[in-house]
Amino acid sequence: MAWGICRVQSSNGKPKPMKFAKGVVGVLRPALVLLLAFLSFGFVVLAYQTIRTLQQVNAVEAERDRWQRADEIILQLGLKPGDTVVDFGSGAGYFALKLSNTVGSNGEVLAVDIRRLSLLFLRGRAMLRWPRNIQTIVGGLEDPHLSGRTADAVLIANTYHELSEPRQILLRLSQSMRSGARLVVVDRSDAERPVSPDSEVIDLHSAGFQIASREDRFIVHTDGDIWWIITAVKR
Ligand SMILES: C[S@@+](CC[C@H](N)C(=O)[O-])C[C@H]1O[C@@H](n2cnc3c(N)ncnc32)[C@H](O)[C@@H]1O
Repeated sequence: MAWGICRVQSSNGKPKPMKFAKGVVGVLRPALVLLLAFLSFGFVVLAYQTIRTLQQVNAVEAERDRWQRADEIILQLGLKPGDTVVDFGSGAGYFALKLSNTVGSNGEVLAVDIRRLSLLFLRGRAMLRWPRNIQTIVGGLEDPHLSGRTADAVLIANTYHELSEPRQILLRLSQSMRSGARLVVVDRSDAERPVSPDSEVIDLHSAGFQIASREDRFIVHTDGDIWWIITAVKR
């Protein structure tokens, strides 16, 4: 009988542990190789899909630049370098990425959305650019989760018509803004959930804002959509 690091021989004719271990490794190795191959394949497919999606989003946004009047919307926010601005309902970050350049490396963009996936995508896009001043925040249906923050400006773009609790949201946003801070709401009436600038003005007044300007036909889009814009100031 011989005992080493492994038992290689048994005197009573029972199966030898070394052989058993070799057998297990023999079965597991191909399974591990297969698993690794699947994971690598999955990773390549995921990377390819992400790059394709990024390219598509960039193309859509380049087309949007032609009609959205984004520079004028951002100008209405009255931002200066170093400011903190909220992009409420940021989605994939069409405005957040532009605002990032406006406030610069000493400023901050707080991108709020209820969709984690959109925010994850925005984080990925933000990582590829400079300055790295975009922070993503998962909001709730009635609360943007900005407590403890003081914003110099808030943008609500193409989002107001989606809000289920607009008054509650405006109230919360107002609580996170310094006095004199600007809020710009730019939107269109959604066929399913029409929102007029008139109802928006009423909501803004009751949330503690004063209307600074309003344009009901800010964009008359070729597809028939009419966009309005309201700039309000926190009292
Ligand atoms: C049509 S997208 C507009 C995205 C972006 N502002 C733009 O102009 O490209 C509307 C976004 O609002 C978000 N949203 C809807 N309700 C919200 C809420 N209560 N709080 C935060 N985001 C909300 C949606 O998840 C969606 O990403």
